[in-house]
Amino acid sequence: MSQGNVGVAGAKDRIAKIVEDVDSLPSLPSIVVKLIEVVNTTDSSAEDAAELIEKDPALTSKMIRLANSAFYGIPRSISSVTSAVVVLGFNTIRSLVLSASVAKMFNGKHALDMDSFWKHSVITAMSAKIIVRHLMSVRMMDPESAFCAGVLHDIGKLIFSQYMPEDYSAVCKYAKEKNIPIVEVEDKVFGVNHAKMGKILADRWSLPLDLEYAIVHHHDPENADKAAHLANIIHLADIITHKLGCNLWDGEVHMQESVKCRSELKIGDADFAKIMTNIENSLDKSQEFLAMLQ
Ligand SMILES: [Fe+2]
Ligand SMILES: [Fe+2]
Repeated sequence: MSQGNVGVAGAKDRIAKIVEDVDSLPSLPSIVVKLIEVVNTTDSSAEDAAELIEKDPALTSKMIRLANSAFYGIPRSISSVTSAVVVLGFNTIRSLVLSASVAKMFNGKHALDMDSFWKHSVITAMSAKIIVRHLMSVRMMDPESAFCAGVLHDIGKLIFSQYMPEDYSAVCKYAKEKNIPIVEVEDKVFGVNHAKMGKILADRWSLPLDLEYAIVHHHDPENADKAAHLANIIHLADIITHKLGCNLWDGEVHMQESVKCRSELKIGDADFAKIMTNIENSLDKSQEFLAMLQ
């Protein structure tokens, strides 16, 4: 397969310019940067986080709505941002604000169908969280970090899709017609795939390292020496999401499951079946999170 076959001559040069001029890519809004700082500072209070969020009325109402939805299943009504932060916790608030901001940041004209893209990302996030909860007895990990990595795992696709819509439409069309994973076509056409593009954004946004590793290695978790556990979780959640038919297009061919992934996570067949059932039963709840991204 050459760039010419796909009909995108010069795509490698165009992507190289984007990578060289990182400043042309979106930066995180200052409210998100400050919120990440607050979350990472041990003596921060719920009021510190709420004060920041309340500066953005749209974000505030989205947060209150979601905090009261079945997505989090909180048994009592939440009427203020401070109580949302107290009840949901700093890390959940971070996922929520980061997801809403990233969706807003990439709201231009796209080659990809954005409803399918976000549905895939949110179901991957929800699946990752369910996998972590299932693994809690084996290894402690914050389910919310997995959720956040799940929402952002394919974020590199949005650079291709928004900054090079014609090239990426041709890439998608080729992957669809030839029944090959899109990641393979990206590598051939751009010389870089969406996982590596995601790393560029994670660096630019100074996201935590485990998140960055999970994003860049979600297709090859065996190479994620640091944070391999989270990369394996996101890889498996991504595979499950495709199995459930939440793809970019009907019949999209996805990557093979990494051979070692489930054994590294110590998930046998019976556990895997339980995880799948749990995820299938939670699918409806994802609608509420998706609504927040619109
Ligand atoms: Fe991917
Ligand atoms: Fe994915």
